[in-house]
Amino acid sequence: MSAAVDLRSDTVTRPTAAMRQAMADAEVGDDVYGEDPTVRRLEETVAELLGTAAALFVPSGTMANQIALAAQVRPGDEVIVGQDAHCWRFECGALAALAGAQTAMIPGDGRFTGAEVRAAYKPSTYYLAPSRVVAVENTHNMGGGTVWRRPQLDDVVAAARALGLATHLDGARLWNAAVASGASVGTLAAGFDTISVCLSKGLGAPIGSVVAGPADVITRAHRLRKMYGGGMRQVGILAAAGLYALAHHRDRLGDDHANARLMAERLVDVPGFTIDLAKVETNIVVIEVAPPLDAAALVAGCAAAGVKISTIAAGRLRLVTHLDVDRAGCERAAAVLAELARR
Ligand SMILES: Cc1ncc(COP(=O)(O)O)c(C=O)c1O
Repeated sequence: MSAAVDLRSDTVTRPTAAMRQAMADAEVGDDVYGEDPTVRRLEETVAELLGTAAALFVPSGTMANQIALAAQVRPGDEVIVGQDAHCWRFECGALAALAGAQTAMIPGDGRFTGAEVRAAYKPSTYYLAPSRVVAVENTHNMGGGTVWRRPQLDDVVAAARALGLATHLDGARLWNAAVASGASVGTLAAGFDTISVCLSKGLGAPIGSVVAGPADVITRAHRLRKMYGGGMRQVGILAAAGLYALAHHRDRLGDDHANARLMAERLVDVPGFTIDLAKVETNIVVIEVAPPLDAAALVAGCAAAGVKISTIAAGRLRLVTHLDVDRAGCERAAAVLAELARR
């Protein structure tokens, strides 16, 4: 059988030979002492790309989101998020457990409007959990890799500002949003107080995220990184992978988007499948599966044929393209899935 095609997530990539070489060659120092030159270079590079005063390298997107949000709330505050935001759904309740904040979720596909922020807003009174931060996810993972464009961001950021709320951008896949929308990451990040970006998703680094923002907030986030156990030592070897990814793996994200689109178009007419093609904007394809088809059985059938996919909810499949799957692999995956569904 040919090699397995792994479409479960864009986090499954392995570092390329050239990336491994960059890691091996990295100049390092103890980053807890602030002495790792490669980490400094990565932080400066990301701050410049995003247009912020400061940035901090952290092990994961989860830590990036959580320390950015914790740096801007007090226990009892509320964070406004879109439907199924990663920082609410997939981060072990850290906002509640660690920051002491609760969330207000705006229903929909993960994107929302300034009017919806105003409707969700709670003022600071003696009996309410006051709204403190609005968090936007771009691209939106559970929404299907959907892209927020600048006018939508302007609407939400302006509403937050008018209400005195801080804004956080979960940009784990901001690189994908930039390629898909034609706007730079700096343009998409403008107006947000804090931004988290991941190097270990579509960009193909083995680990690492960066949280960016104003110097005072990043100073607080730095302290929280240490508190949460994220202070790392000679971590320039990992920052070097991130720098390599930024230099070499951003432009190629368009290939991942084209591969996702190809699979979506091949699968959209399969009886029992529903795919909203308008939402296949980046590297994620979400398929609603209607009975008698069974999503879990399709996942198992695909695995047996060397194609790994996942379910993200009852009756919902997700396929994610990345650096380690090519067009032929995506064609094979679509053919295998379509054949199983038509049996
Ligand atoms: C939108 C989004 N934010 C944050 C994260 C968290 O990243 P990590 O897995 O590095 O903690 C993910 C992970 O998939 C994600 O999709």
